[in-house]
Amino acid sequence: MSSIGSFPERRPRRLRRTPALRRLVAETEISVNDLIAPLFVKEAIGQPNPVSSMPGVVQHTLESLVKATSELVTLGVPAVVLFGIPAHRDATGSGATDPNGIVPLALRAVRDEVGDSLVLITDCCLDEYTDHGHCGLLDASGRVANDATLERYSEMATCHAAAGADLVAPSGMMDGQVRAIRSSLDAESYPDVGILAYAAKFASSFYGPFRDAVDVEIAGGGDRRSYQEDPANGREALVEVALDVAEGADMVMVKPALPYLDVISEVRRRVDVPVAAYQVSGEYAMVKAAAGNGWLDEPAVALESLVAIKRAGAGSILTYFARDIARELGR
Ligand code: PBG
Repeated sequence: MSSIGSFPERRPRRLRRTPALRRLVAETEISVNDLIAPLFVKEAIGQPNPVSSMPGVVQHTLESLVKATSELVTLGVPAVVLFGIPAHRDATGSGATDPNGIVPLALRAVRDEVGDSLVLITDCCLDEYTDHGHCGLLDASGRVANDATLERYSEMATCHAAAGADLVAPSGMMDGQVRAIRSSLDAESYPDVGILAYAAKFASSFYGPFRDAVDVEIAGGGDRRSYQEDPANGREALVEVALDVAEGADMVMVKPALPYLDVISEVRRRVDVPVAAYQVSGEYAMVKAAAGNGWLDEPAVALESLVAIKRAGAGSILTYFARDIARELGR
């Protein structure tokens, strides 16, 4: 390639000649500090339970969860997101606000073990706790009721705050969820507990394997399109993000990650709070399945995907590869 009409000729390959040159000019680098590990913990099981559509991922017991978190600390991973799977479900998701529910127990057990060396984030959503599998309460006609759900999210957030969460992560995509949670955290004297908002969360088919991980099925073959965003809408995602920042989100998230790099990049340009992206269950499962067949080089593809997500503008990445990548980086 020659530069347009100028001399000397510009030859970009000069800077690619040796590994040291390539390291010198690399614009993006994944560090262990960028990683957030999602972890599942299930009530009333005696043994960790493998998630078949997510090889390498398990539903933890409290004991195995504590072990997994201390390994992550050793590897230098700074944060985890906890997802609870209760033994019982009902219409209002009452397990979600039980102070002795699985997530509060997990928060206390992990905090006891690792102290402040790990940021403990909790997913704040009802779908794991409701018998109908929706992220909110249903009204008499079976529709997801926005404002009634906000009260449940607020209670859930303060319940997690009381058990020691550093950040709560509302993921239900109800309108006004960040404002509602922020006011109740403040009212209940948890001003230091922050909010990582699932701000631009799309109604994605890439969440398929996650539903195995949390044993959730939406009743009557329903879906989440009346609350999660249409994958066709990039501009609308920016509206959602702006609202969440205005409502008090400390960090915002785009989810899924790789199919939504355009959204990540635009969000990064527009806001000054930290931006996270969630490489979701389906993104993970695709790599695992292809690698299991010998069709892709798993660590290379995982790392390249994370570099792409970071290059697009995400400063933190929620990824099921967190432990493996952290090991890889530590070599
Ligand atoms: C909702 C929630 C979901 C995920 C994270 N939080 C599922 C959904 O919205 O249906 C998906 C994460 C993944 O696929 O890895 N509690």
